[in-house]
Amino acid sequence: MSSRVEPAYRYLTPEVCARIEALRPRYPDRRALLMPALWAIQEAHGWIPLEAQTELAAYLEIPAVWVHEVVSFYNMYHERPVGRYLIYVCGNIACSLRGARRLLRYLLDRLGVTERAVTPDGLFTVERVQCIGACELAPVVQVNGEFIGPVDEARLDDLITTLRAKAREATP
Ligand code: FES
Repeated sequence: MSSRVEPAYRYLTPEVCARIEALRPRYPDRRALLMPALWAIQEAHGWIPLEAQTELAAYLEIPAVWVHEVVSFYNMYHERPVGRYLIYVCGNIACSLRGARRLLRYLLDRLGVTERAVTPDGLFTVERVQCIGACELAPVVQVNGEFIGPVDEARLDDLITTLRAKAREATP
């Protein structure tokens, strides 16, 4: 398929389309291209709303349901906006036995949000997830891909303080 940009596209900007086209030789199968293409959209916009999924389906000429299935299956794709720091709290058996449920509640109360919402400052989203493969660190959280554990209330306090400071430093 040749490179093309439909003017009606809102999320498939020329930059996103260029990234997809650059990926295409490595992923000649459109279904294989789907995941890195979704990643390109998410990196550009921070999340992948339904409208973006529909645009991508049209662009790749695949059924929209294929796109939605992938986005809704993998929690690395966000169907709603998330904060700068996405904190996954594992709620599976090893972590649960070591207090994950209590720690999730603590974290949400500490940040004053509900699960999957974004804090008013745009910094944090907290989400309970299934086993993230670091049971030896239970109870464990994952922040933008980095495992941190075992955690307790004090360590979560430190984490929030550190991330807030980091965000302040990054703000010009
Ligand atoms: S049960 Fe929590 S990381 Fe596996």
